[in-house]
Order: sequence, then structure tokens, then C-alpha cells
Amino acid sequence: MCGIVGMVNGHPVAADLVAALGRLEYRGYDSAGVALAGPGLPVHRILGRATDLVPVLEAESPQGHAGIGHTRWATHGRAELRNAHPHRHGGVAVVHNGIIENHDVLRRQLREKGHHFASDTDSEVIPHLMSEALAQGCSPVEALLETCRVLKGAYAIAAVTAAEPDRLLVARMGSPLVVARGQGVAATASDPAALAGMAHEYAALAEGEIAELTGEGIHFHPIRIQERRRGERRQQPRPVTVERRGQGRRAEQRSWQLIADPTAARADGRIFTHHTRREIAEQPEALAATDAALRGLALAPAVVACDRFTVIACGSSLFAGAVARDAIERAAGVTVDLEVASEYRDRSAPPRGVALLISQSGETADTIAAMARFRADGLPAIGMVNVRESAIGRAAEMVWPVTAGQEIGVAATKSFTSQLLALMRFGIALGEARGTGDAAYRVALAHALDAAPGICAEAEKSEPIARILAQRIAGEGEALFIGRGWGAALAQEGALKLKELSYLRAQGYPAGELKHGPIAVIREGSPVIVCTPGDAGQAKVLANASAVAARGARVVALTDASGAEAASGTAAETITLPGDALTAPFAQAVFMQLLAYHTALALGHDVDRPRNLAKSVTVE
Ligand code: M6R
Repeated sequence: MCGIVGMVNGHPVAADLVAALGRLEYRGYDSAGVALAGPGLPVHRILGRATDLVPVLEAESPQGHAGIGHTRWATHGRAELRNAHPHRHGGVAVVHNGIIENHDVLRRQLREKGHHFASDTDSEVIPHLMSEALAQGCSPVEALLETCRVLKGAYAIAAVTAAEPDRLLVARMGSPLVVARGQGVAATASDPAALAGMAHEYAALAEGEIAELTGEGIHFHPIRIQERRRGERRQQPRPVTVERRGQGRRAEQRSWQLIADPTAARADGRIFTHHTRREIAEQPEALAATDAALRGLALAPAVVACDRFTVIACGSSLFAGAVARDAIERAAGVTVDLEVASEYRDRSAPPRGVALLISQSGETADTIAAMARFRADGLPAIGMVNVRESAIGRAAEMVWPVTAGQEIGVAATKSFTSQLLALMRFGIALGEARGTGDAAYRVALAHALDAAPGICAEAEKSEPIARILAQRIAGEGEALFIGRGWGAALAQEGALKLKELSYLRAQGYPAGELKHGPIAVIREGSPVIVCTPGDAGQAKVLANASAVAARGARVVALTDASGAEAASGTAAETITLPGDALTAPFAQAVFMQLLAYHTALALGHDVDRPRNLAKSVTVE
């Protein structure tokens, strides 16, 4: 949560900072602000979006050549101006992403020394600690080192000072942060995509590392948490690594990667108003890229030997695990348990087998905490992440990658279907390696996955139907999604998508459970979307659909060609999507994404930045 950015350049950086912040708004958008290094250390903050900073900065026309910026998702302290970043104190301005766990203790200590705080945030202790160190004779980089040594928790920090107009300082522990460089520019951001067009290449800042950024290069220092003995002189930190473009590198080699522009026009020439819609259209490429990255990937012996897996995830990633569970169990002849990460982390039952952690961002705090339980018992964890350089990507014993490309819209779309494909391919690879499971099913499933990118492209053509249904749901103000087997899990994903984008009350339920209570909500005209593929389970789910239709619900069946005839006997409306019962999860997922997207548009909501949400949830 929260996005941070910083830049040093040979010319004023304020406009670039705001543009970069705009691309980080998926991380939070309660408030935004920038600070510019040098005399006066000007800070500009607003409640609302980064773009709202533009008129403020136009009026002020700040000239600083080094600066920092922040877009906030409120955790400590309400979404109020005084809690907006940057926080400034005594010649230091700081932006922070993460949580300082010992901020209460630090505040108390600082208050005893006469410090006053202007915000409720945990972050504000950072400029106070740095200014204390400056007052004791530290240089700005020493002050940041000293500060990091007392901070507990997770942080990505960027700081500028009044004393150094051409220098930016950054530090990282547990929260994502990259450094980047280009012609005469050095920059930092929570996500490299924010810097597209401003810097050329980026590298991850390592855990427990500080960097000094100037127009000439980037100097790296480790944060060594060590006590100085009384009276021992503080030493000027010497960089362990100096990296400059086009020059030889000393010490460690860092992996630099080109910064891609996620908003460039698509190869097919289509342009989209929203990231979310664009990402729905990108599913064929995302699936193909994920498939290509998985081909030939071998499973570790400890994974092959295991017959019990625990899928741990949150939100859409959890539903992806739930949709694919039966496919893995059948393809590999193993048992797959499902655990909600935020609940699992506090369970007392000992972990068993291998953990399969699914996370688009790889930064979800609850999933990371659940992983810790497996690691504490010496059990392996497989990370299924879309961001390889994420906390889970780095910590897991094995990564079974999702390669969907950057997802900016807060709603998971292409990452969800790419996770489905990766999970099903995992089941096939596991069954083959173990020699267990249903071999004929594996062959059929592999063919279905080969076809999945094309099925997603075809399913996108159902958009006009999704748009009409969306108008109706927007008018009704609610929707119920039901299914059986994987359809029950997909129903939950469809409901989550509708809820988060349209803010309507939507529920996803196993169809067989309706009669145990939820059927009471059905009234005349209630929209009920039924996931009903033309497979052996169709008769049962249609029987459940009939029960709601008999009580006045308007049943809309999502099916494929083989299930259309049976569905139309029960449903008021049958939507026949491309493919068959094996590819149906992909086709139905795309339809539900379009449905949620158009319902949100019909209600006038901000599709890419739905209220109260952030893309990566790095708090518990
Ligand atoms: O990055 P993760 O996959 O771990 O995120 C998990 C959930 O926060 C995420 O799937 C969330 O539910 C999405 N906004 C759903 O569209």
C-alpha cells in the first residue's frame, strides 16, 4: 500500500514526480504530496489524487532538481491532510511505505527530547529521528543509516534534505523499492513502471540497503544493525557498491532491467480508457506468456514426493486456487487444502506437506505471514507470484511463476486467469512427475490449456451482452452468483469482482448451499448468475437454479455450447461462451470481468481505483 517515488535530475523534477505518482495510484489514492530538496525544503500535499497536485505546483512552479513524492492508502491515521506525506522536520522531508512497528516507543523517546508531532502517522518519526542525528553532526546519509538502525517493521523510505539540493536518499526493509537510472537522472519508485519514459533501467534495492542517488550515480550501503560502543566515533559510511551508467562496477553485480511502458499502445492498435479494460483484453498474451515461462520447468524432489498441498492466498488469488483445486487433485492424485491466509496465519494446527502460496503482488502481508508458519516447521513453500522480485518470490523455496505482466487496475483480471493456467499446469507437471493421477484427464486438460488464450480472446467478444446485463444489474442493485465444484469458486470470484468495482451487494455461493439459508434473500426479479458448464455436474446445478427461479429469481446461465440446451430449459437467459467444459473457467471469468467493469461504468465509478482499496495489501 502507498506508492513512493523520488528523482534527481539536471532540471526541475516536480512535474515528473506527479506523473510518476499518477502511475502509482493503484497502490493507494487517499492523499498525495511532493517535497523538493534544497533551501526551504518546499512540501506540497493535497487530499485526493496525484493529479490534483498539478494546479498547486503550477501556481508555485517549484524549481528543485531533486524531490520525492507519495500517494497514500491510509493505515496509521485517517485520510486527512496532516497525515499526508511527505513529512518534514528540521531540514528533512521523508516519504514512507510500510509500517514502523516501534513508532510508539520512538515517539515517546523523541517527545522526551522536546519533539512535537503534527500527524498520527507512524512515518513521521523518521524525519524526526533523522533531524536528531543531523543535529548531532551526522551527514544526511549517516542520519538515514542511524535512523534505519532503530526502526522495527517494514519500510521503503525516500528522503531529501534542505542541505543537499542534488541528492536523494532511499532505504528498504521489507517493502518494495527499486532504484533506476537514465541519462543524467537517478530515480526510485515502489514500482519501476512508474518511471517509464523518465529513466532507462532499474534494479531492486536489496533488503536492508540504503542508496544515495545523484545525477552522477547511485551509491549503495548496507544497513548494519549494530550497536556503537560508548564514545566510539561514528564513521562516514563508505559505499560498498558504486554503479554508474557505462562504467565498470565495483564489488557486487546488480541485475539491471529495462523499464517497460505499460501504457504503450497495444500491438493490435486498440486503445483503452481504463487499465482494467486493457488488462481484460491482455489475457490471451498473459496466458501465453505464463505458459511459455512454465514449459520445461522441473519440480523440486520435495514437491514431487508430497501428496498433500495447502493453497494459501487472499481474494482473487484464493479463488484461483479454489477453481483449480479439483483439476490439480485429479491430474496429480494428490489432496489440496485451501486456506484463507489471514485466518491460517493464526491457526494452531501444525502445517503439513507443501505450501502453495498464490499472490499476484507477492507482497500480501497475510500470505507472507502464513508462509512463515511453514518455514518455521522446515516445510517447503512454492511461491506462485506475478512479481518475481517480490517478498514471496524471493523467500519461497521454489517459484512456479505467473507471467501476466504488470497489472495496474486494482481488480485482478489477467493475473487471475494466468494463475488458473499456472495452477492447472502445476497439476499436470506434478501428476507426470509422480506417476499418479488420471493420465487421460491430464492429456485433455493440457489441450484445454493450449486453447485457453484463444478462448479468452473469443470470450471478450461477449462484451455487448455483458454490457446489457450490467445495465440490468446496476438497476437491481444486487446479484447472486452460484455454481458447483469449480463453478462455486468462480461464482465467488464473479461476486468479488462485481462488489469491488460496482460497490453493489454481490454474493457468490455453492449452489447446493442455497437451500440451507441464502435462498431466503431471493425476491421477484433477483438477478442470479449461474456457472453451469455442460459437464456431468450440470443437472445438479440446474436443479438448484430451478429452485431460485421458482421463487421469482431471474436466472442467467453462463455455459458453453455443450451445456446451452439444458441451461435454456431453466434460465431466463442463456449466455453461450466459446469453448467447452474444460476451458469454461477461462471464458466465464472473462465474461464476469466484463460484467463487473460495465456495471461499474453504468454506476459512474472509477474502475481502476475503486474506493477503499489498494492493489497490494501489505498490512495485516
Ligand atoms: O497480490 P495478491 O494476489 O496477494 O492479492 C490478493 C488480493 O488482495 C487480491 O486478489 C484482491 O482480492 C483483488 N483486488 C481482487 O480483484
